[in-house]
Amino acid sequence: MSEPKKLFIKTYGCQMNVYDSERMAEALGGKGYVETKVQEEADMILLNTCHIREKAAEKVYSDLGRLRPLKEAKPDLKIGVAGCVAQAEGEEIMRRAPLVDLVVGPQSYHRLPAMEDAVRRGGKALDTDFPEEDKFEKLKGRPKAHRGPTAFLTVQEGCDKFCAFCVVPYTRGAEVSRPADRILREAHELVEAGVREITLLGQNVNAYHGHEGGLAGLIWALAEIDGLERIRFTTSHPNDMDEALVAAIGECGKLMPYLHLPVQSGSDRILKAMNRKHTAAEYLDLIGRIRAARPDLLLSSDFIVGFPGETDQDFEATMDLIRTVNFGQAYSFKYSSRPGTPAAEKAQLPEAVKNERLARLQALLTEQQRAAQNSMVGREVGVLFEKAGRLKGQMIGKSDFLHAVYVQAPIEALGQIRRVRITESAPNSLGGVLID
Ligand code: SAH
Ligand code: SF4
Ligand code: F3S
Repeated sequence: MSEPKKLFIKTYGCQMNVYDSERMAEALGGKGYVETKVQEEADMILLNTCHIREKAAEKVYSDLGRLRPLKEAKPDLKIGVAGCVAQAEGEEIMRRAPLVDLVVGPQSYHRLPAMEDAVRRGGKALDTDFPEEDKFEKLKGRPKAHRGPTAFLTVQEGCDKFCAFCVVPYTRGAEVSRPADRILREAHELVEAGVREITLLGQNVNAYHGHEGGLAGLIWALAEIDGLERIRFTTSHPNDMDEALVAAIGECGKLMPYLHLPVQSGSDRILKAMNRKHTAAEYLDLIGRIRAARPDLLLSSDFIVGFPGETDQDFEATMDLIRTVNFGQAYSFKYSSRPGTPAAEKAQLPEAVKNERLARLQALLTEQQRAAQNSMVGREVGVLFEKAGRLKGQMIGKSDFLHAVYVQAPIEALGQIRRVRITESAPNSLGGVLID
């Protein structure tokens, strides 16, 4: 047998891209590739890209520029661009970056093996179709090799919501749910390979409709799998949070008490301009119902500041909403104008205004996040141990609430969920001691 070829993948963007990178590596595994963490020794480099904000997209071109010396030193090296920038700017990438051999969109990467043949023969390959066939069915089952205790599993892709700022409906296409039987099969394969926690992924994961009872129905079916101990899902849209899912959050013991529920703004005027299709009061009402079902839930959200037309008053409404909800975790961004989206046509706010608002918003969110984290001290939580820490005898895992937790624990704890008492809170992690 010939030497295996080496594949280096760099992943940008969201968890969906992390999942896609795994699947692309597996697809190219069938062509004799093994993954390497060393870019310099790769025979193929794939950049799995993100188009969500301008900075993310521009980074791809600067990273490609940096690959030029490597390609010159090693003419056989193949360079590919995958993901959402590939989808949005496929032909432009080929034009702007002649060193790129292959461009593949997020819905067509099951065709990578054939595209690899074409570039090996010296050609170029571009595929940014939204094909009729289901890429997940064309890809093989998940490999049996033992793997870490946590995994992502894409159950829903694409988005029909068309928020005025967002490129996802254009880069990922229309909303599609994968059939439940295939998801359950994949979950079984993952559990057999050692996985204990699965995070269900979708751009609008709670719009999932491939199982009776929607996402809640799927979660209850997954909860039947022996050996699968934790279930999470992300990202949800407030308008798709149905009663069955709220009930599952309260009642399904395997569903973890952490929910990412982006709101973007606390101003009704801005929510309307963003085409979010709900008001701040409706969001607060929903949070109330979810918290009634699961009082200790840790809530996370996304915010955009400086959306076109956002006044000081609109921004203060966002600050008020944050004070009312009290988030345990959050992500916040300056609005970034994206070509082709409705909001890009509107007058933009000055950068200085965006910077000032982002700083104030982040200060408040950081304060809430610290308080939530500090309140864990003294509490008992489950921790799923994922890897060894840097200190002797130290293991790192994730709590039910998704906090990173450092604990002195035996190596056998790897891949297990153990009860831990939290004893300290550091800036971005917790420390604790084993109880059992
Ligand atoms: N489907 C998810 C979010 C996908 S994008 C949802 O509906 O919530 C992740 C986050 O990036 C968004 O929640 C939003 O806060 C941010 N984002 C998306 N487009 C953006 C833009 N043009 N500028 C700044 N932030 C943006
Ligand atoms: Fe983008 Fe809105 Fe769809 Fe989320 S719901 S992916 S923010 S268009
Ligand atoms: Fe980025 Fe595409 Fe995900 S734009 S956030 S990689 S869906």
